[in-house]
Amino acid sequence: MKEINFSSTALEFNSTEELNKTYQKLLKAAKDAAKMAYAPYSNFKVGAAVLLDNGKIITGNNQENAAYPSGLCAERVAVFAAFSQYPEAIAKAIAITAISENYNIDTPVTPCGACRQVLAEYEYKSGEDIQVILSGQTGKILIIKNIKTLLPFVFDPSKLKKISKKKK
Ligand code: THU
Repeated sequence: MKEINFSSTALEFNSTEELNKTYQKLLKAAKDAAKMAYAPYSNFKVGAAVLLDNGKIITGNNQENAAYPSGLCAERVAVFAAFSQYPEAIAKAIAITAISENYNIDTPVTPCGACRQVLAEYEYKSGEDIQVILSGQTGKILIIKNIKTLLPFVFDPSKLKKISKKKK
């Protein structure tokens, strides 16, 4: 028996001014998207912005539904929109943030497990790290270097490799 360790590290910034210009712009896009979220049930409005290698920024926000599980998180709205429009593109980074009148969001918003799984698919597909920029409405900002760090022990497409059958 041996112990296997995955370590999770993040860079912490005190304010957006400490980020490079690209990430400032990406986070601003996520904030603008959060303002347009459809979140009448939770009033927790999340925005996400995906930066693609072609320079495009594609945004999304949470879309809630009276049948609660039918809604979708901001991250998946953004990522699915990005890859439905640019199927050949590679995601370089995603910024995530939230705003609310009901909650004090003073720590970075971190994506749910299902969104991490979806992001992991595209990181695996391209073989390139997707940087994750996480922010609350106020407070510090975190940058995490890739999705693998966010989701250790991921279920990835390598598990679905078929056994090759030899011809007789
Ligand atoms: N939500 C997101 O959109 N992204 C997250 O990372 C966390 C949660 C949404 C789902 C729901 O509409 C609301 O926030 C409250 O959970």
